[in-house]
Amino acid sequence: MTHGRTVIRNGLVITAADELHVDVLIDGERVVALAATGSPEARAWQADATIDATDCYVIPGGVDAHTHMELPFGGTFASDTFETGTRAAAFGGTTTIVDFAVQSVGHSLREGLDAWHAKAQGNCAIDYAFHMIMSDVTEQSLKEMDLLVEEGVTSFKLFMAYPGVFYSDDGRILRAMQRSAGNGGLIMMHAENGIAIDVLVEQALAAGHTDPRYHGEVRRELLEAEATHRAIQLARVAGSPLYVVHVSAEQAVTELAQARDLGLNVFGETCPQYLFLSTDNLAEPDFEGAKYVCSTPLRPKEHQAALWRGLRTNDLSVVSTDHCPFCFVGQKDLGRGDFSKIPNGLPGVENRMDLLHQAHLDGHISRRRWIELACATPARMFGLYPRKGTIAPGADADIVIFDPRERYTMSAATHHMNVDYSAYEGRQVTGRARTVLSRGAVVVDRGEYLGHAGHGTFVPRATCQYLH
Ligand code: URP
Ligand code: ZN
Ligand code: ZN
Repeated sequence: MTHGRTVIRNGLVITAADELHVDVLIDGERVVALAATGSPEARAWQADATIDATDCYVIPGGVDAHTHMELPFGGTFASDTFETGTRAAAFGGTTTIVDFAVQSVGHSLREGLDAWHAKAQGNCAIDYAFHMIMSDVTEQSLKEMDLLVEEGVTSFKLFMAYPGVFYSDDGRILRAMQRSAGNGGLIMMHAENGIAIDVLVEQALAAGHTDPRYHGEVRRELLEAEATHRAIQLARVAGSPLYVVHVSAEQAVTELAQARDLGLNVFGETCPQYLFLSTDNLAEPDFEGAKYVCSTPLRPKEHQAALWRGLRTNDLSVVSTDHCPFCFVGQKDLGRGDFSKIPNGLPGVENRMDLLHQAHLDGHISRRRWIELACATPARMFGLYPRKGTIAPGADADIVIFDPRERYTMSAATHHMNVDYSAYEGRQVTGRARTVLSRGAVVVDRGEYLGHAGHGTFVPRATCQYLH
């Protein structure tokens, strides 16, 4: 339920910019004031409800800019619906997702976007927005890009991988980039050389290499780096900005760093699975490695240092989940005996905020950088700031009371995602969302779900707020 006025007292408010001992006043769906804890101003606030955040952090709700609820892939569908996936996100302290609507080949962007609105509307626990996957770059779909930007779908994902499904060749990519240079849209790139990868897949299978670990071997680091380099050069030719999704290889980070050193509007995203998991997981016996099949693939552990460094230097500026869950039983096992038939994707929408807090405790990033990577920068990158991604007067009251001392063990037995395994099974973390507010309404409190499907609304987005 939305309260009239709520005050959050005695917490440490952490944003990307500040760490302040202030109380927060919420009126309806918005934050209306911040004032020093114990100050006459804060003490004078009258409210209908008070949340005591003593010994807790008060942080903006997470913004997960890369999810795939109900994504059709490899003959099946991602197992989280908008209802189950956004509820799980809320449990994990994420209060906004940006999901990918899909244009199918032979269909318009409008048809794809309408279909995704129909899936999401009335079902979400938290607010949501859309990117558009372009699978068919035509004169018609290029024109439609302008309309979508106007209605708040301001980013477009293209694929250099998956020939015959989502793949676009360089000419189509260049045309889409040229269009986005004119209309303010942001091109998001799945940067892997899918044509070369398909040759290696065929050769691996012919040699009898059918286990999940070969998924990682054929999707070579160099083919991620090469595609990243090519995408950057195409964006330079088009004069458009570029956002490279799910970066996993050190060599791809190097390409991004070089582009950024030239002052280009090139941005990189990585995901928790690349920071915390590795090819060791893909090599787990008895087909268990299938749980970790995603693209770009997990890399050898040695790549993680480069990803953490990129997150500190801002060559990587966003951590999203690429949440795309498939159950081990009945979905991942479509690829027993042929790794290329394992649906690609990992669950994680519930785990991101806590894993990144753990990364702070482990010394990889500061507390404010945690909030910057998980809340503020994704909000700015995708035109949601300052409504989302911060705690300030006028912002939506999407707020998490985060207990930095609660220790727990991640497990499929206790998580809320609709998937039969956890990619982080048995991992102990310290720090957890205790109370979660979405537009002023408490949707999760101490492990209890208090929200409802349909509370979450579609948020039209402005264009990228980082362009120069
Ligand atoms: O393996 C992945 N990443 N699945 C989701 C689709 C994509 O490419 O993001
Ligand atoms: Zn992708
Ligand atoms: Zn994805």
